[in-house]
Amino acid sequence: MPHPSIFDPPYRLELARPEHASVIARLSRDRVEQGLGWSWRVARVGRAIASAQSNVVVALGPAGAVLGFGIMTYGDDEAHLQLIAVRADQARRGIGRAIVQWLEHTARIAGVGLVWLEARSANVEARAFYRRLGYRELERMPGYYQGIEAAVRLGKDLWESPARPALPAPPPGTSDDPGA
Ligand SMILES: CC(C)(COP(=O)(O)OP(=O)(O)OC[C@H]1O[C@@H](n2cnc3c(N)ncnc32)[C@H](O)[C@@H]1OP(=O)(O)O)[C@@H](O)C(=O)NCCC(=O)NCCS
Repeated sequence: MPHPSIFDPPYRLELARPEHASVIARLSRDRVEQGLGWSWRVARVGRAIASAQSNVVVALGPAGAVLGFGIMTYGDDEAHLQLIAVRADQARRGIGRAIVQWLEHTARIAGVGLVWLEARSANVEARAFYRRLGYRELERMPGYYQGIEAAVRLGKDLWESPARPALPAPPPGTSDDPGA
């Protein structure tokens, strides 16, 4: 087995496999759903991994341990970031940002322009994280979580954001804009 070197990246992103479902479910229970009941159990995560309407991405450490994950589902025009968590001992290393950017990239490729998500209103760290990544807080939804806790809905227009590939300028004299 090859030895890790200091030049190895600290993690890699890839699509989750069925064997990752139990770690993802536990991360959701411990990092996202604490105090709310556990809805993302192994079977549900497994269905998301198998579904053609969703992507589950994992950040894997050099030995293959799951350091973080994200789940996005895709509609025709919109994508929903369902869930994201990074292990507490791996926070603030850019893993969450890399996961969101990976999922946003897949949405762009699928022709989806809008990503939205909900965060627990009291989760000020997650809200700061999303705002840093260009998400706007759209509305507050009292009682969204089991009638006991408010959510904040956030959204991002991917076509407005800088990662959109620049269209090449048309050659001079070929504009079809009648006003040009
Ligand atoms: C939210 C979460 C996914 C962020 O993952 P992460 O890998 O720690 O975040 P990153 O290192 O990529 O942070 C990117 C930027 O977001 C902002 N940010 C991240 N965590 C933050 C925090 N706790 N407080 C304030 N800003 C934060 C910072 O601007 C950060 O950039 P910087 O470190 O250069 O200042 C992670 O903290 C987590 O798993 N939280 C528990 C689960 C959760 O709340 N999930 C969201 C449910 S809606």
